[in-house]
Amino acid sequence: MLQRPRRNRKSEVIRQMVQETHVSAANLIFPLFIIDGVNQKSEVASMPGIFRYSIDNLLREIESCLKLGLNSFDLFPNIAEELKDKFATESYRDESLYLRAIREVKKNFPEACVITDVAMDPYSSDGHDGIVENGMILNDETLDVLGKMALAHAQSGADIIAPSDMMDGRVGYIRNVLDDNGFTNVSIMSYSAKYASAFYGPFRDALNSAPKFGDKKTYQMNPANQREALIEAELDELEGADFLMVKPALPYLDVIKLIKDNTELPVAAYNVSGEYAMIKAAIQRGWLNEQRAITEVLTSIRRAGATAILTYHAKEVLENKWL
Ligand code: PBG
Repeated sequence: MLQRPRRNRKSEVIRQMVQETHVSAANLIFPLFIIDGVNQKSEVASMPGIFRYSIDNLLREIESCLKLGLNSFDLFPNIAEELKDKFATESYRDESLYLRAIREVKKNFPEACVITDVAMDPYSSDGHDGIVENGMILNDETLDVLGKMALAHAQSGADIIAPSDMMDGRVGYIRNVLDDNGFTNVSIMSYSAKYASAFYGPFRDALNSAPKFGDKKTYQMNPANQREALIEAELDELEGADFLMVKPALPYLDVIKLIKDNTELPVAAYNVSGEYAMIKAAIQRGWLNEQRAITEVLTSIRRAGATAILTYHAKEVLENKWL
């Protein structure tokens, strides 16, 4: 035999020499949940090790992440039911929990990268990502709300705006609103290929943001479709996105690879709440080795072509020095 591929696997040194994919702290984005109040910290039942923090504790959590070299955070608010309405007006109210949180984080840690989520669902009394009329999700009317929300985030200090709503034309709309108001430097990380997935369940528990009726299938993508992701990615690129995101990650590695092969923009992947819950549940039962399972997941998402990974594992992999 002339070719013996095993020779390149014969020692740890050689295995590391030929390793094609690496995950580092710089690639990781840590999603964080925020709740109102003082000195609050409540664990999400379906996401062991993941908490909702009041702003004071959020600042402590971010400080401890920065010490580990984890510098990018995606913030999500848990909004009290009585503050929700059909038009998500709480999403751009100056003294809202979310806008206060962004301002506090940027004031205390200007070097941190703050990514903000633009979508109506946490603030909507219908629990949908768009304005609802007669059971339908209105597209163009929703853009107006998303524009107001994105502008409020930029004014509060957001570094990157991440629209997760899947309305048509929202990247271009938000880009225009930001530019018209002088925020040409604020980036857009678009949820380009966001699927109508079962794996968002634990996230909706964390934020109490599940739809009050129906599902999200008229705006989020059909899990059976791959080519359609190219349409979404191409539109977002033309509309001015700086990053293209695929979500969820693990069940959609083929989509990450497809988009990576068809764009020069950095691709992000969201290793979502249900993916985290699944791994943690198996680990708790002793069915998987924690370190090996988690690092294999993150490495696979990178190998598929993701530059940045949004993951609830971000802090633990650095704390435990697993990378
Ligand atoms: C809201 C939003 C969702 C997630 C991120 N932004 C949920 C949804 O679309 O229902 C899911 C993240 C996760 O599951 O970790 N638009």
